[in-house]
Amino acid sequence: MTTAAERAAELRRQLERANHRYYVLDDPEIPDAEYDRLFSELQKLEAEHPALKTPDSPTQRVGGAPSPAFAPVRHRQPMLSLRKAAIDLNKQDPSLRHAELIDFDRRVREVLLKASVDYIAEPKLDGLAVSLIYENGVFVQGATRGDGETGEDITSNLKTIRTLPLRLQGDVPPLVEVRGEVYLPLAGFQKMVRDAEAKGEKPPVNPRNAAAGSLRQLESVITARRPLSFYAYAVGVSEGWTQPPRHRDMLEQLKRWGFPVSELIEAVQGADGCQRYFEAMGTKRASLPFDIDGVVFKLDDLAGREELGSVSREPRWAVAYKFPAEEAVTVLENVEFQIGRTGAVTPVARLKPVFVGGANVSNATLHNMDEVQRKDVRIGDTVVVRRAGDVIPEVKEVVLALRPADARIVELPSACPVCGGAIAREEGEAIARCTNGLSCRAQLHGALIHFVSRKAIDIDGLGEKLLALVIDELEVRTPADIYLKLNTENLAALERMGEKSAQNLVNAIAASRNTTFGRFLFALGIPVVGETTARDLAQAFGTLEALLAAAEADLATEHAEKKKERFPLLQAVPDVGPTVAASIAHFFAEPRNRDVIAQLVRATDEGGAGIHWPAPKAAAEGVLTGKTFVITGTLPGMSRDEASALIEANGGKCTGSVSAKTDYLLAGEAAGSKLAKAEKLGVPVLDLAALKDLLAPAQAAS
Ligand code: IVH
Repeated sequence: MTTAAERAAELRRQLERANHRYYVLDDPEIPDAEYDRLFSELQKLEAEHPALKTPDSPTQRVGGAPSPAFAPVRHRQPMLSLRKAAIDLNKQDPSLRHAELIDFDRRVREVLLKASVDYIAEPKLDGLAVSLIYENGVFVQGATRGDGETGEDITSNLKTIRTLPLRLQGDVPPLVEVRGEVYLPLAGFQKMVRDAEAKGEKPPVNPRNAAAGSLRQLESVITARRPLSFYAYAVGVSEGWTQPPRHRDMLEQLKRWGFPVSELIEAVQGADGCQRYFEAMGTKRASLPFDIDGVVFKLDDLAGREELGSVSREPRWAVAYKFPAEEAVTVLENVEFQIGRTGAVTPVARLKPVFVGGANVSNATLHNMDEVQRKDVRIGDTVVVRRAGDVIPEVKEVVLALRPADARIVELPSACPVCGGAIAREEGEAIARCTNGLSCRAQLHGALIHFVSRKAIDIDGLGEKLLALVIDELEVRTPADIYLKLNTENLAALERMGEKSAQNLVNAIAASRNTTFGRFLFALGIPVVGETTARDLAQAFGTLEALLAAAEADLATEHAEKKKERFPLLQAVPDVGPTVAASIAHFFAEPRNRDVIAQLVRATDEGGAGIHWPAPKAAAEGVLTGKTFVITGTLPGMSRDEASALIEANGGKCTGSVSAKTDYLLAGEAAGSKLAKAEKLGVPVLDLAALKDLLAPAQAAS
């Protein structure tokens, strides 16, 4: 057993090391969530055993020590930090889930003797707090927060930030200190990562770290090249200026002086209002152009703040409500290989279970062998696991400092772990595949799951478990066998299947025969052909015969010198480039695939599965005939599906991604990468009003 004293010493050592890597070397070694966990553990130990508290404990300091490279700046008013509250994801009941937030609000109300109070809800930007001094409206000095008392003078670096005003507008007091957050938008961060990788340098680990590194450059010319930005959120000391009664007024004043203030800030009422804002931000988070790690609630009434005061450098009138950690550290116990429906071999990490992103995680993807090598993942390693939103958990990186001496290298098996077939990895391909096709049970199972799925052939009631049973018990070997080998008798005889469910399933199978060409193509599971591409192919070729003929003709061009000259007929379809075209042509050239397709579409009275679809209907003619659109962002008062129907009704076509073949991008609010790509390619961008203008002649005529 380790004693509390030993544990505290160990935690201090780990935290000191982490602090040094983070603040001094700008090169963190453990994720923030892990740091927070260690820190709280130490805080708790020290609270339980006050004798263990040492003056040099990491819990006794706030933030980072100033670097000797920059002149120290003593803050005229200490820069406080925020008390944190955490959501309890293990609880369902909102009053328990948000207990810490509700507690915060209760304490505020108790001190102020109020039944309900207003808060200003702000996003908690994941950047760096800075203090900016303006004398007679002119920016004269800027500093980092440092340890809260003394920061570093980074004035010349701050001057390079375009959104930070160097001179204030309107009525300016003789002295005012403005506080806010310097952050790096995600696009800028991604660019820094790409640049570093291109130069063979170590890329920054996250936007905040990249922002910190950029701000603390010794040469401001380097800072100037980094696309840093700034949001103001408070006024510190001032002379010749009277503080308004409420925080919201202060934010308005900041705007009038010319500061950027986040558009996401809202006034909310009570703990309920706070909860709603938190949930809404959680949803919005993924589409924001910058990282936020939670929200901050601040008492709106500034006089009330005086009454509440602060304890241990944390104001009692504000709270940081953080999103659940999306990263955690655990041990990689083993790596196994899964075979997908296209034969792709995916290394899967088996982990010591860890609570992350609101769930217990014991498996995570390692994507492919290139990734395993790039991240240098070994069995026995301590790894950082990431689970963001609904995304599949992944192993993000290895904590090299904690690698055991007997860590084992991960090796790609030479035979398929399911069927024993050969595993092949083409030159220059990241993905290794089992070459046995539908003869490999794993591929067959995956192919059938995909085939029956809702957006494909759509057979209700044929789930993964039942598919495994019909493979093992009823000798289903291809998608066509679903139609040819299953009947009420043999289905009813299966474990846990009654007469009734067997009949329902047979009915569902029968109903699925009547489908669309697009669904049928998608159901085939051609590698890299998604739902949209399948639909585009169906539209472009109209019939299966025409598509097969094009694929066959195109195959002759596959070795053409220029990629653009390969597979010309297939590449004429929107969004189909050389890779997708090659996949389609090869799929249809494979005799096993042709046989299954023939069986699927042969009429039932000729012994086939009888899948059929309506003959192609001519596309609508209209002002948009021949024009290809891509829709992105949130349109005012119209869903994307409605917009796409409107475009198609006027003869236009809608596709999924922007390319040189796109005629127009229809962009709404919060348009992201597609907008950037359209601008780069010079594709004209329309808003909904402009689209309606285009349609005006049609509308006027009808
Ligand atoms: S208010 C006493 N507002 O969070 C008030 N801080 O833990 C202190 N932060 O150092 C700051 N967004 O870097 C405030 N909207 C926001 C914020 C925010 C991010 C950071 C800031 C500060 C840390 C406090």
